[in-house]
Amino acid sequence: MHSFFVACLALLFAALTIAAPQDWTNAQRLARGLPPSPPKFGRILPGYVRSPTTVSGEKRSPSPSPSPSPLKKYEGRVQVVSYDGEPLGYLRNWATDSVSGVNYGGPSSELHVSFTVPNSGKGLINILATNPNFPAPYYIGTTTSATLAPGSPSVVGFGNVENTPPLSPPVPYANQSDESDIWTFDLTTKQLKAYYINPDGSSADTTIAYNIWNNSIFFVGDIDAYNKAVTDPDYLVSSVTFYLADLD
Ligand SMILES: *[C@@H]1O[C@H](CO)[C@@H](O)[C@H](O)[C@H]1NC(C)=O
Ligand SMILES: *[C@@H]1O[C@H](CO)[C@@H](O)[C@H](O)[C@H]1NC(C)=O
Repeated sequence: MHSFFVACLALLFAALTIAAPQDWTNAQRLARGLPPSPPKFGRILPGYVRSPTTVSGEKRSPSPSPSPSPLKKYEGRVQVVSYDGEPLGYLRNWATDSVSGVNYGGPSSELHVSFTVPNSGKGLINILATNPNFPAPYYIGTTTSATLAPGSPSVVGFGNVENTPPLSPPVPYANQSDESDIWTFDLTTKQLKAYYINPDGSSADTTIAYNIWNNSIFFVGDIDAYNKAVTDPDYLVSSVTFYLADLD
């Protein structure tokens, strides 16, 4: 009787201390012929992102949602390159006539600029003169309001302008008609190209023209038509391109 009682106690004790089957390790389950236990709630499955609320002591990983395209700021000077790839110099920075020519003077006559571009590299931008020797306004763009078109010798001036919206036709300001947001910037080549908007709102093929005789820069829509209309050979122009260059 006494030994039976002890045996019963021992069995009860054993039953209480043996872990329930759902707590067995998979090795214990397999040893007893049971299938492996299913994944527990909260366990990380391959391919699933850890939930920051169920994992303690770990930093939240950055949100994977797409970030808005931030703007990147560029600073430098504008190199003027001839039609055949020869660097002519940098845009000038004059008290009179502002920027419209190549600097053949010292460093203080060299224009410095800054602008911001979306990381996508797309869209029209404006260019701000950061060390102007000339009075405001301080953006650089088109200053007159002719219509540029194929077959037409018309020209549009280049100089310091007010800030105007992208794709805006020329905006009258003082004795000028201004467009500032006419530029595109190629993130790879660093080329700055101009896209003038005609007074009727149409977008013009815009070529930057250079007269080496009087060191002047302006815009034309058709450089051949312009040169054909010229009577004085001193007024012949060639096309040039602009590139952002680092400061010295
Ligand atoms: C506007 O007037 C200023 C100062 O008189 C002159 O320097 C500039 O060339 C003029 N601009 C145009 C587009 O005529
Ligand atoms: C320079 O030459 C261009 C023609 O190529 C002319 O339109 C412009 O008025 C001239 N500028 C000066 C300052 O003489």
